[in-house]
Amino acid sequence: MASLILQIFLLLVIVATSQGSPVSDPPLQIHLLRSRLGSGGHHIPGVSCLSWRLGVETNNIIGWKTVPEECEDYVGHYMLGKQYREDSAVVTEEAFTHAKTFKLAGDGKDIWVFDVDETTLSNLPYYAKHGFGAELYNSTAFNQWVLTGKALALPESLKLYRKLLSVGIKVVFLTGRTEDQRAVTSHNLNAAGYHVWEHLILRSSSYSGKTAVFYKSSERAKLEKKGYRIIGNIGDQWSDLLGTSVGNRTFKLPDPMYYIS
Ligand SMILES: *[C@@H]1O[C@H](CO)[C@@H](O)[C@H](O)[C@H]1NC(C)=O
Ligand SMILES: *[C@@H]1O[C@H](CO)[C@@H](O)[C@H](O)[C@H]1NC(C)=O
Ligand SMILES: [Mg+2]
Repeated sequence: MASLILQIFLLLVIVATSQGSPVSDPPLQIHLLRSRLGSGGHHIPGVSCLSWRLGVETNNIIGWKTVPEECEDYVGHYMLGKQYREDSAVVTEEAFTHAKTFKLAGDGKDIWVFDVDETTLSNLPYYAKHGFGAELYNSTAFNQWVLTGKALALPESLKLYRKLLSVGIKVVFLTGRTEDQRAVTSHNLNAAGYHVWEHLILRSSSYSGKTAVFYKSSERAKLEKKGYRIIGNIGDQWSDLLGTSVGNRTFKLPDPMYYIS
C-alpha cells in the first residue's frame, strides 16, 4: 500500500542526492526535479491550479498539450502526495459499489474494461524523473521506460481489480500501447499483481492516425459483438470513456499530467 509512495520517495532522494542539492532544501521539492527548459505553453491567466485541475478532470478543459507552467509544481505535488491516492480511492470504491449492485448474468460474459497507463499501471517514476509539465514529453525516452516493464500498480486500481474478480467479473485491458509492446506489457501487468485477464487489447497498426476514442470504441464494440457485456469501464482519460459501447457505467480516474484525445 505504501510501497508506491515509498518508491517515489526513494527515487526523489536518489535524484536529489545525485544532483547535489544543498542540505538546506526541504525534501520532496518536485520543482527541483523538473527541467526549467521550455515555456509552459497553454495557460489561462489568473486561473488557480486547483481550478485548472478541476476543469481538466471534468472534461471542461480539453485538447491541452501541456500543464500550465505555473501549475507544474502543483501537479507534481498532487501526483506524489496523498490527494491523488485519495481521489483514486473514491473513484474505485464507487466503481465497486456499482459492480456489487449490478445484476450480473454470471455466464462468464460480464466484463470490466480497464485502461492501462495511469489506470492499471502507474508511470510516476518516469514523470517524477522527467517532469510533470508534458512539454518535455519525449516518446523515445517514454518508450524506453515502458520497455523496462517497471511501471507500478496503482494500489486502488489493483484493489478494484481483485474485488471485481472475486465477484465473477472478468477483466479486459484496453490500452493505447501498441501491439509491439504486448510482451512487456503482459510481463509488467503480471509483475504488478495483475495475473489474469480475459483479453489484453493493444493498438494495432490499423488504427494509426485514428483517435483513442475511435480505437477504443471500435474495440469495445467488437467485445460486445463477441457476446460480452461491459459492466464498467475505467480510465484516466476521457477518451477511454467517451464514444460508443462505453459500458453500463464509466469511472474517471484523476490524471492532470497529460491529455489524449
Ligand atoms: C529523447 O530521449 C532520448 C532517449 O533518452 C534522447 O537520446 C534524446 O536526446 C531525447 N530527445 C530530446 C529532444 O530531448
Ligand atoms: C447495460 O448496458 C447495456 C448496453 O448498453 C444495456 O442494454 C443494458 O440495459 C444495461 N443494463 C442496465 C441494468 O443498465
Ligand atoms: Mg491511461
